[in-house]
Amino acid sequence: MSSATTSRTQVGIVGAGPAGLFLAHLLRREGIDAVVLETRSRRYVEERIRAGVLEHGTVALLDELGLGTRMHREGLTHAGIELRFGGRSHRIDFPALTGGKTITVYGQHEVVKDLIAAWLDGGGDLRFEVADVAVHDLESTLPRVTFRDAGGTVHELRCEVIAGCDGFHGICRTSIPHGVLTAYERAYPYAWLGILAQSKPVSDELIYVNHDRGFALFSQRSPTVTRYYLQCAPDEDLGGWSDDRIWSELHARLAGEQTPRLTEGPIMQKGVTAMRSFVVEPMQYGRLFLAGDAAHIVPPTGAKGMNLAVADVWVLARALATFFTAASTSALERYSETCLRRVWRAQRFSWWMTSMLHRAVDGDRFGARLQLAELDYVTGSLAASTSLAENYVGAPLS
Ligand code: APR
Ligand code: PHB
Repeated sequence: MSSATTSRTQVGIVGAGPAGLFLAHLLRREGIDAVVLETRSRRYVEERIRAGVLEHGTVALLDELGLGTRMHREGLTHAGIELRFGGRSHRIDFPALTGGKTITVYGQHEVVKDLIAAWLDGGGDLRFEVADVAVHDLESTLPRVTFRDAGGTVHELRCEVIAGCDGFHGICRTSIPHGVLTAYERAYPYAWLGILAQSKPVSDELIYVNHDRGFALFSQRSPTVTRYYLQCAPDEDLGGWSDDRIWSELHARLAGEQTPRLTEGPIMQKGVTAMRSFVVEPMQYGRLFLAGDAAHIVPPTGAKGMNLAVADVWVLARALATFFTAASTSALERYSETCLRRVWRAQRFSWWMTSMLHRAVDGDRFGARLQLAELDYVTGSLAASTSLAENYVGAPLS
């Protein structure tokens, strides 16, 4: 192993997902120095297929940062979603219910590509393929991050603050001493089998389907690339899902009155996404601040994961600006409390959407009838559909 080096920065950012990358850009705007460390390769993070719904506020933030050009060119503005149950579709019109707001469908990995390119173009420090990342002295005013670069050289990064943006499986949350954090968790007895296919989308808008055979979601990435999901078992064996079986299951779950025309095509990617709700409180320990999936996970039904990560780092960047310019820790002290309000709102919404749309695995027939009553109410009542719409487009960042 090569000899050690030491360097300094104001904020050490662990993880180059949406949380870490948005934070890096927000700090750059404030004139705060940051270094981003990422265990994976650039190619890996740029190709990792995840969700793709950007809330109104996330789109506005990309624009504010001057990073929205490709998103506006290639992303798709959606003015609503369809809820399909009992074989019929019902539309939720976002602009009509939220004073003009829409969402944008643009893959998370495309956002990540744009953020990485702009960070590096602006001379930003981002180290890919680092190993053995560890955080130290979190209770002190000079915490440190140590890591090994791809060549094996050991580095020590001395920071004033560390941002733990390293996702659910990262090391930051687990470096906090036992007993400090309280975890709140809910596991769901199902998962999503997701595909990316070369085919014409079934509709211009997303369709969320409640069906006796299980939930399905019809989404897209472009006018020629579709992203579809099917409710499956958490331990589903992908080997049992031929392309033919996937298409025939999608046809079956979409069928009913006014069946939208589903066009098949080559499937480019298949994967199983787990469904879990998870929150730790507080989102801070000493000079370590957790953001995004490192602190909370939502089931994907409400499309909130990336948007929550963005909301966290927006709060964190503002608090860090106060800290570095006015030497005041008061905003940083409120970081966790401020974020957790939005986190729990999104948890409630994601849990509600999930519970309303998925088939219970225990054959709960009463529950299935309640789901239909809920869907009937949501699509028939102005108050209830407004509630869904305002949660889906997301509250402004504040
Ligand atoms: N050191 C450095 N980087 C790490 C480490 C580590 N020890 N462990 C993990 N990472 C990296 C991961 O490789 C990943 O690139 O941290 C990054 C975390 O990114 P995400 O998992 O995308 O999490 P986040 O930025 O919080 O974004 C949340 O991602 O999981 C989706 O649905 C979720 O859309 C949401 C969004
Ligand atoms: C997606 O397009 O990947 C997507 C859309 C809506 C969701 C989840 C995922 O609720």
